[in-house]
Order: sequence, then C-alpha cells, then structure tokens
Amino acid sequence: MKILLTTRVKSSFISKFNTNPIMVFSPGRINIIGEHTDYNEGFVFPAAIDMGIYVAMGRSDSDKSTVHALDMEESFDFSVSNLKVVETGSWKNYIIGIVSEIQKAGKLVTEFNAVFIGDIPGGAGLSSSAALENSMVFGLNELFNLGLSKSELILISQKAEHSYVGVKCGIMDQYASMFGVKKNALLLDCRTVKSKPYPINFEKHQLVLINTNVKHSLSDSAYNDRHSVCESIAEMLNVKALRDVNAYDLEGVKDQLTPENYQKALYVIQENNRVVQASKAIEDGNLKLLGELIYASHEGLQHQYKVSCEELDFLVEQAKSNGHVLGARMMGGGFGGCTINLVAKEHTETFTSQVTQAYKNTFKKACSIYFVELSNGTQIIA
Ligand code: GLA
Repeated sequence: MKILLTTRVKSSFISKFNTNPIMVFSPGRINIIGEHTDYNEGFVFPAAIDMGIYVAMGRSDSDKSTVHALDMEESFDFSVSNLKVVETGSWKNYIIGIVSEIQKAGKLVTEFNAVFIGDIPGGAGLSSSAALENSMVFGLNELFNLGLSKSELILISQKAEHSYVGVKCGIMDQYASMFGVKKNALLLDCRTVKSKPYPINFEKHQLVLINTNVKHSLSDSAYNDRHSVCESIAEMLNVKALRDVNAYDLEGVKDQLTPENYQKALYVIQENNRVVQASKAIEDGNLKLLGELIYASHEGLQHQYKVSCEELDFLVEQAKSNGHVLGARMMGGGFGGCTINLVAKEHTETFTSQVTQAYKNTFKKACSIYFVELSNGTQIIA
C-alpha cells in the first residue's frame, strides 16, 4: 500500500465533496500456476499484490452520484435509481455493474461519491478490473451497512464483469484480490471457493514479472470462446465442469471433437493436475519441480489452449535460455500482459537487463519489469 496514493485520493475527495470519506484499498493479483482452470471449477494458485486501487468514498446528499477517476481526471455522474451502461471499454461500466448487481441482490444503496486511483498497469494481466470492482463493492457494503460477506461481495464483482463488461471470467481474480494473505499465495479450489494459504519464501529465488506492454484486441472474445468450448465439452461428457474428468474420460469423446478442441480440454485437465503438483512442490521446497511445472503450463497455454502471443513466447524463450530461471510462463487471460518468472536472486539483474535489451531489439518497444510483494486482500485503510 502506498501512503502517497492514499493521501492524493483522500485530499481530492475532501476538496470535491467537503466531507471525510472512508478509504478502501483493493489489490491486483499474480498467479503462480493454474490458468484458465477457474471457470472449469478447478484449482488456481494466485496471490494478492501491493499494487491496486485506492478509493475514497462517502454518501452523497444530492440526487446524483459522482465517481472520479483521479489518474484520468475523468468524472462520471449518474443516479443509482437510473443506471445506464455507457460506451464499451469504459471504467464507468464497472461502477454501473457493481451498483446494479448490489440492487439485484436486494440491497439498497442511495447516492454516493467516490474518487479512485490505481497503480496497476492496465492490460498487464494483474487484474486491475477485479481490484476496481472489489474496492467499489467493499466500500459500498461498508458505507451503506449492507451486511454482505466477502464471499457474497466477490460474486457481485464477478457478475458485474459478466453482465456489464462482457467477460465471462472465473472467480480467481476477485477471490485473490478480496482474500489475499500477506506473504502467501492461495491454493484455491474454484468449486468450493475455499483456499489454503501457502507462505511464499523462495529464499535464493524470487518471482519477477515482465510486462510485454501489449494487449491484443482479440483477448475478450477469445476468452469467452475458450469458456464456451470447455462448457460444451463438459456437457458432452455429462459432467458439471471439466474439473470432473481425467484424460482417460476425455479420450472417450475424442472422435466427436475437433483436434483443436480436444487439445484445449486436455490442457485444462493437465493444468489442473499441475496446480496440485505445484502446491506439493512448494510444500517440499522443490523449486526445480515448481519451475518445470511453470514452463509446462506455458507450453500448454501456447500450443494447446492457444492463448499466448509472440511477445509472451519470446519472453519465455529468453527465460529458458538463461539458465538461472527455473520457470516462466504467461500469466492471466493471455494475448499480452505479463510473464511470471521464478529467478535466482543473484542473477535477476543480469537476466532482466538481457531480456529488456533483447525485447527492445526484437519488438522495437520496451518491456517492463516488476517486483511485487504479496499482500493482504481488500481492506479499509486509514
Ligand atoms: C482472467 C480471468 C480469470 C481467469 C484468468 C485465466 O484473468 O478474469 O477468471 O480465468 O483470466 O486463468
């Protein structure tokens, strides 16, 4: 959490609305392993990070609500009794979505004001959307004493994203952002929506993120497409989700599937197994195995699930050829954003500077390097 951002948001709120706000921080997330398994009711291994969204919020005594995005200097006026979706791709729809889903849950919110700022780079696959949704829903729950539990809040965030942003996301991002535990990653079972924290201290190794600084435009439609492919194969197999089958079961319907869709379902089954193996590897302190699983995850995302891109593959290849990187893979939905790398601490600097140069030479643009701390989830701050 950063004091400076908290202060900026708070003083902007006070100067605009002349009253003291409540303050909320909601983090973004990384994911060690388990990609595209959440909406298949499988396992994921995310952690909340120390980058996120800071919100100042208070009740409004006028007949309108105002939400101000401080970093964009953009204000949005609306009334909670007359919610309308705005142009696609706008942050405003997250706000509309949250208020509307709270109302659908039978809870009453009256007009309010908010100012927010974030330090999660957009399109990086670090879940700035979930952080924004959670910060708003958490703040409104406090402000209007709605009495919703954190578990109910994340479902509201997820529904807002489904219905008002149009991405049929799983629960990983909202869960990790809401329930994060400092210095821990969470082994989350996306069926029961319960998690087990794993302290993350890799001693001589560390997690490093490298942002491709690209986000290819097909990402949302491809995401929803993968989701529906998985659903239809689960239906064909007569189960609730791909979580319920193994490779042998899938073999049984192979001749009814295109080779591409067969590979996609196989990827999900294999990735789910990798998450469980990875959690054991962490328990045993077997970082070499953890790294191999992370590389294997990328292989699957690239060749079977087909959600990677040239820039991500390039970064993973660089990691592989380095010798001091135990594992690397694309992270999040895909088609851009970051890779996550498990790197020997004493070689981190040479690795990151080599990659930075190579990336620049190849793509004529810069990648960005992030070191993140694992942090607590959505919370009230001073
Ligand atoms: C996005 C979605 C998540 C999850 C990941 C892929 O981040 O919001 O629900 O599906 O992609 O693992």
